[in-house]
Order: sequence, then C-alpha cells, then structure tokens
Amino acid sequence: MSDLPRHVAIIMDGNGRWAQARELKRIEGHRAGADAVRRITTRARERGIESLTLFAFSTENWQRPKDEVRGLWGLLIDFLKSELTTLIKNQIGLRLIGDPGPIPALAQHQLNKVIKRTSGSTQMTLNLALNYGAKAELIHAFEQLKKNDQPIDEKNVERHLYTANQPPVDLLIRTGGEHRLSNFLLWQAAYAELYFVDTLWPDYSDADFDRALNDFRQRERRFGRTSAQLNNEVTP
Ligand code: FPP
Repeated sequence: MSDLPRHVAIIMDGNGRWAQARELKRIEGHRAGADAVRRITTRARERGIESLTLFAFSTENWQRPKDEVRGLWGLLIDFLKSELTTLIKNQIGLRLIGDPGPIPALAQHQLNKVIKRTSGSTQMTLNLALNYGAKAELIHAFEQLKKNDQPIDEKNVERHLYTANQPPVDLLIRTGGEHRLSNFLLWQAAYAELYFVDTLWPDYSDADFDRALNDFRQRERRFGRTSAQLNNEVTP
C-alpha cells in the first residue's frame, strides 16, 4: 500500500473524439476539456495533492490546424482570467512548464500575471505544460550544465528542469484510451505509476480521479528493491 501521490501528472486526451461524437467542432471538445481542468484542479486540491501537472499543449501541437491552435490559446486565456481568484482563494500557485518563447503574447501576458499573483501560494502547485516537450527540456538542462561547467549528475539535472524543487511524479494518468507517454515528463516520471483510462478527458470526473488515487494506493512501489525488503521480512 502506498500513501496518496504527492505529484500527479495528467495527459488529457480525447477532447477531439468527444466533440466528434457529438458532431461538434474540435474546439468545443477543448472547451469542455477546460471545464474538466477546473474540476480536477479543485479535486486535486481537496485531496491534498502537492503538485498537479497538466499536459495542455505539446511542442508538436503547433502542427494542428491553425484555427484549433488559435482556439486553444484563446481557451487558455479565458481559463486564466476566470480562475485567478479561485486559485488565489485555494492557495494554488500556477507554474508554466515548457518553452515560453513561441507562446502568443497575450497568453504569455496572462500567464505571467497569474504566476506572479499566485506565487505565494502554499497548498498546491498547478503546472501547466505549454509548448512542452520532455526531450527539449532535458537538452536545455544539459546545455545549462555544460555552459556553467557543472557535473552532469541527477541533482544538477533536476535543478535545471522546469519542475525544479517539486517532488518527482508519483502517478501519471492518461485519459482517452491511448497507452503512451508522448514526450511528457520523461525524467520526472521515471518511477511514476502509470494509469490509463478509456474515459475521454471532457468526461473525466471527480469520481474517476478518486478511482485513480485509490488504484495508486494499492500499488507496491519497490523502486528496484524486493517486496520482502519493503516489508522488512527476513529472506533466506
Ligand atoms: C488532447 O486531445 C488535448 C489537447 C491537445 C489539449 C488539451 C487542452 C485542454 C484540456 C483545454 C485547454 C486547457 C486549459 C489548461 C484551459 P485531442 O484533441 O488530441 O483529442 P483526440 O485524441 O480525441 O483528437
């Protein structure tokens, strides 16, 4: 049995299929997905999760149709505007993980504002992965170490990741029925418990999230050791 996860990461997949099933435009699926973000952020906070990391836009997502890309950034701006007071009230600090450079100026402006206004929060960190790719993150960390002539060891690499000073990912959830990591948190999730669910992200409920947390608590996390070692049993 494990304790509750300290850090939960989610690959929010299935918005497009949710919309398609209702003969709606894909952006409507993302809009419903943004509501699920609100729901699950609140639930994670209620459950005492320290860090929640959501994969909202990958470095590969720029290849999607222009309208969809524009719509996604618009939804993010709406989300940031509507959630600021709730984040402050619930003591949730926002962080961006990803390369901010190519993010549209208006979205950057709102992000910076919310990050600044929530920076003193003490209860939970909400990491939004935007223009994020794990390989690029690692290359960036290695380059920083090389530039500063620092040794490449675990502590130093972690200091240069976007998630510096946060616990490693304990539980990684992917909705939407696909079973892959899609270049997400490859370092931080090295020992994460993986949890895949068919539910499409807009339908993902509080109860679904609780089910994932309960499943996590049943897992035996051995980190390379034996079950007997973990239970302090004497083995021949
Ligand atoms: C994957 O579904 C989802 C995304 C690429 C974007 C996630 C965005 C949101 C949840 C909404 C906006 C975010 C915030 C933080 C307000 P997909 O489009 O690949 O779904 P499909 O596999 O069914 O096509």
